[in-house]
Amino acid sequence: MESISLPDIDHGRRRFLVAATGAVGGVGIALAAWPFIDSMEPSQAAIGAGAPIDVDLGRLEPGQLILAVWRSRPIWVLHRTDAQLATLPKNHPLLRDPDSKEKQQLPGFVNGDYRSLNPHIFIAVAICTHLGCVPNFMPQPEALGSGWPGGFLCPCHGSRYDLSARVFDGSPAPLNIPIPPYWYKSEKIVRIGELKGGGAQEWSPSIW
Ligand code: FES
Repeated sequence: MESISLPDIDHGRRRFLVAATGAVGGVGIALAAWPFIDSMEPSQAAIGAGAPIDVDLGRLEPGQLILAVWRSRPIWVLHRTDAQLATLPKNHPLLRDPDSKEKQQLPGFVNGDYRSLNPHIFIAVAICTHLGCVPNFMPQPEALGSGWPGGFLCPCHGSRYDLSARVFDGSPAPLNIPIPPYWYKSEKIVRIGELKGGGAQEWSPSIW
């Protein structure tokens, strides 16, 4: 298997990239989130009480990340490209838990490199497993220096995750970011917050 080595982060460069990405990403998320929030069911009152949410994927472009909200927590919904998917198996030697065997994962739900029901659509809780910050989306290869395959960078203490939210060795975060229960009501509508048939509605990772 081909392997890559991640360099130490240039912290000066990282701060700039985080600030730039955070600003652009924040605007993008705010703009992109409106049509999705509008299309969610059930009612806002029920969502506020913790009910599952429906997200319309119809306008999610390849490479685009949006933020949904479930149980008042941010949830990433990312449309991964073929090139991004191809990076994931190569990350194995650099990951703390490449097969997501540690606690917090729903057992037997989504395993392997993609950690998703549909490889292209990645859904995860957008909370760092160290102390709970929201990591920044850093998809560009080499954005953090030679060897960076694209992924997520936590702005608080520098934890790094790949595009399946698996934590890289050497990060302060101890665990991969959890995947919430979800299922597809149709090709373009995903229900987040339960498994098909209504299971796992009480699921809650220890980072909450
Ligand atoms: S909260 Fe993310 S690295 Fe500390």
